[in-house]
Amino acid sequence: MKKNLLVGQSGGPTAAINATLAGVIHTAINNKNIDCVYGCVNGIKGVLAENFLDLRKVFSENGNIELLKQTPSAYLGSCRYKLSDSTADIDKIIEVLEKHNIGYFLYIGGNDSMDTVSKLKDACDKKGIKVMGVPKTIDNDLMGTDHCPGFGSAAKFIATSVAEITRDAQVYDIESVTIVEIMGRNAGWLTAASALARITGTNSPDLIYLPEVAFDIDKFLDDVKQMVKERKNIIIAVSEGIKDKDGNYIADQSQIFKEDLFGHSQLGGVGKTLETLIKNKCGIKVRSIELNTPQRCASHITSKTDIDESFFIGGKAVEAAVNGESGKMMGYVRVSENPYKIDAKAMEISEIANAEKKIPASFITPSGNDVTEELVDYIFPLIQGESEVIYKNGLPVHLIR
Ligand code: F6P
Repeated sequence: MKKNLLVGQSGGPTAAINATLAGVIHTAINNKNIDCVYGCVNGIKGVLAENFLDLRKVFSENGNIELLKQTPSAYLGSCRYKLSDSTADIDKIIEVLEKHNIGYFLYIGGNDSMDTVSKLKDACDKKGIKVMGVPKTIDNDLMGTDHCPGFGSAAKFIATSVAEITRDAQVYDIESVTIVEIMGRNAGWLTAASALARITGTNSPDLIYLPEVAFDIDKFLDDVKQMVKERKNIIIAVSEGIKDKDGNYIADQSQIFKEDLFGHSQLGGVGKTLETLIKNKCGIKVRSIELNTPQRCASHITSKTDIDESFFIGGKAVEAAVNGESGKMMGYVRVSENPYKIDAKAMEISEIANAEKKIPASFITPSGNDVTEELVDYIFPLIQGESEVIYKNGLPVHLIR
């Protein structure tokens, strides 16, 4: 008997999460075992509220899958919702899934979203519902998978922006410091990706500060003074999540911050903190730039590799669920380095949910303020290729719900 498929998106958006959704929808509407294809609005909150969209209606129209692939944000809407510790949420979710004859539930998200999949696993198993996680996160911090859908595009935007900022910052013949603050929470992958700007023929970023290395203010000021003496105008890439030796976020010292439902600090502002510090202690011209949300929604400069892989993994997750897999996350396996090639594999959710994959020490230089060539080699294939974007009236076309 045919069953229906339900898909949701969760957590911070990326420029590629809709490509994964497109892969899910395209594969599901062409699969003979699947009847209706539904999307839940605002992730798991949309399941609890029975807020579903009929995706066959929207996506049987020619061209909408392609437009979805080039639309940033999360088409279905997102949430940061932690399932209650009592069984209340899970019971309600199972009731709704059964009511709508859902045989396959796919949840696209990061580590917190994999917590949701993990919590639903047993209850879904009892009812024969296949539940699968599909990765996404610009932070690249999911365990198991070689890398995360969305990371390559954000990395490409960051490396490009740092190269462009460097050109601008070097026009005057005076000492100056430009700080670029980059997202990624407790993992420095995105900040490290700024090193790929060097492929364009610059030394920048001249200094890189990652959350994986305890931040020391005195050492930082020494690094800056020394580097300015050597190179005159310098670029610093700094992660929003850098912490001191006691684990306190440096960003917290300049702002009142809130926590989301998963207990994560809302970061941002560390660039300004360091800007003030350099101004006061060194008296050098200094400017800070927070790349902020453009690094996860710049769909005009995505990596074709990332968009193609994100579409691919969405389709693979549907196939895995139909073939009986459940309680797992689809992930990438790098099957060949040269030529670069990946495949998809279903991975145990218990090893992924709530964990964070950090940059290993071997990818960080002994000085603690730069990354190694091995790290650049790991990211390099992920930023390759440019997606062909459909434009109208001079602007990219987005698919709006
Ligand atoms: O987890 C992805 C991410 O973009 C982080 O890099 C960032 O710290 C966080 O989300 C921001 O979350 P929000 O969109 O909820 O402010």
